[in-house]
Amino acid sequence: MNACVDLPRSLLRPGAGARPGRVYLVGAGPGDPDLLTLRAARLLAQAEVVVLDQLVSAEVQALIAPRAQVIDAGKQRQRHTMEQDEINALLVRLARQGRQVVRLKGGDPFVFGRGGEEAQALAEAGIEFEVVPGITAACGVSAYAGIPLTHRDHAQSCSFVTGHVKEGGPEPDWAALAQPQQTLVIYMGLAALPRICTQLAAHGLSPETPAAVVQQGTTAAQRVVTGTLADLAARVQAAGLRSPCLTIVGEVVRLREQLAWFEPAPVLSAACA
Ligand SMILES: C[S@@+](CC[C@H](N)C(=O)[O-])C[C@H]1O[C@@H](n2cnc3c(N)ncnc32)[C@H](O)[C@@H]1O
Repeated sequence: MNACVDLPRSLLRPGAGARPGRVYLVGAGPGDPDLLTLRAARLLAQAEVVVLDQLVSAEVQALIAPRAQVIDAGKQRQRHTMEQDEINALLVRLARQGRQVVRLKGGDPFVFGRGGEEAQALAEAGIEFEVVPGITAACGVSAYAGIPLTHRDHAQSCSFVTGHVKEGGPEPDWAALAQPQQTLVIYMGLAALPRICTQLAAHGLSPETPAAVVQQGTTAAQRVVTGTLADLAARVQAAGLRSPCLTIVGEVVRLREQLAWFEPAPVLSAACA
């Protein structure tokens, strides 16, 4: 029996039988399209179908080939994004149709991006895949905020951690995180910011430790609020920062005073617009 007989005609492309489907897990970087790798830009320009993540900036999306089919897997549906299992199944299905799929993810696919789970699903289904690294938010956002993640005088190590702790899940190792001479970069930590600052101080970091929150780093909408563990949460709330935000804790944050170089585009007031 011919396995192709049952496929809907719409899924059959010329030569579809000859070319196996393949999925490219591509990092889109933190927002500025100039931070894409050449590999990512080339794949976007040639894309046949793109499965989008919520965090991919409009400027990066503008580089997707106009003929490409774009599937928004990060779209809010009743305030929920597409479940990870559904995304995995979608990637497998598209590849089994013989399509070349770009799975475009904010930052780097393998840093808090669930790219590992997607790659596992593809491997288990026997689908060929490739991983194209992207600039992770920690590197891109800190650079555009003028905050070096390490510095010989201030930080000999740097940890990337998630501030999104599962309900009832294990607590972070606060004592390990509250070490001097290191920089902490906290992804997805906006909602838990007051708790994070309190716990770091309770586990040994000075309440005067400098810290910053960067909203929409590397983009024209970048905003940076600095303070200390003692007052950062209140400052961020007063400034009304919104996700996506990255938190950086450590002495290196002081260097921003000297090293801030990126000027986001001025916000036009209603009167000027
Ligand atoms: C699900 S994680 C994805 C991380 C991504 N894979 C990476 O490597 O950057 C989403 C979090 O990344 C951080 N993030 C991503 N882009 C950002 C940006 N442009 N500015 C600030 N934070 C950002 C925020 O903490 C956000 O909540």
